[in-house]
Amino acid sequence: MAATAPATQRAELDVYRFDPEKESAPRYQSYQLDLAPHTPVLTALLRIRTELDPTLTLRYSCRSAICGSCAMVINSKSRLACQTPVGPELARHGKIVIDPMRNQPVLRDLVVEMSPFWGRYRKLEPHLIPDPEHPMPEGVATSMTPVQLERFKETPRCIACGACYSACPMVEADPAFPGPMALAKLYRFVVDPRDGATKRRLTSVQPGGLWLCLRCHLCTEACPKDVRPSERIMDLKEMALAAQGGTENGSRHALGFKENIRERGVLNEFKLVRQTYGLGEMLAQVPYGLKVYRKKPETLRSPKPIEGRDEVEKIYEALDDTEGA
Ligand code: FES
Repeated sequence: MAATAPATQRAELDVYRFDPEKESAPRYQSYQLDLAPHTPVLTALLRIRTELDPTLTLRYSCRSAICGSCAMVINSKSRLACQTPVGPELARHGKIVIDPMRNQPVLRDLVVEMSPFWGRYRKLEPHLIPDPEHPMPEGVATSMTPVQLERFKETPRCIACGACYSACPMVEADPAFPGPMALAKLYRFVVDPRDGATKRRLTSVQPGGLWLCLRCHLCTEACPKDVRPSERIMDLKEMALAAQGGTENGSRHALGFKENIRERGVLNEFKLVRQTYGLGEMLAQVPYGLKVYRKKPETLRSPKPIEGRDEVEKIYEALDDTEGA
């Protein structure tokens, strides 16, 4: 019996179009195609180019989620076009809206300039820096813990597609933030026993870098290879705290927050400002503090310990035990 072709459905694809050299503003162009549900968005775009509009510009290569070239924003999510079937998108949104990756300038249509992405990555020295004074003894394969080794094995899966960079709100907000992919790769070198620059890496990435991560986990959601960059960033924060304690605003804020709540079971906001900033920065905040005081004086008073604070203490003690284990 002859195999039957999968049923197709009429699909609408609204595709971002922009040629910055010829046009003053971007626009969306709508295309209609008959598509089977399993058809990848990339295949649909290539059909548009072959059958309807040869001027559509996009980047792709392997068509197999290996090269990382086809990352774009599909119905508001950063992902690989070759790995995204049209069926679920049409079922959920009624049509498919396709934009170029965010946080990178558009060269044309769906193609973006990726040099800012690579520039932030290169700044973190993404290569082994051996310590000449402590070379790895021959025959020693690894001195990582099993947990570190498992996490280490996730990072080489990264195909540098840029989907995490596109999804990250902090990349947009602060040009100093290295971005999720760069930080996940940094983790890979920090835990590598052959690398001799761990201290320098953890020190240099902290101010205006590591601690800017908002823990929104959008990078982990976007990653097509399950590298889970936000979790690697949290690992780096823990390692930075363990190695260096509170050395700048971000790490002092994290440590202060933890101890602050332990005291009364509730956040003492005024104290947290003192725990985070040095005297100079505290003084610079005085005008703002006065404004807050006039509007909400209770913010600057020490809150009373909450009822059941001993339950909070039990949680802290359990955490202390876990960390000491
Ligand atoms: S075309 Fe290579 S990852 Fe999509």
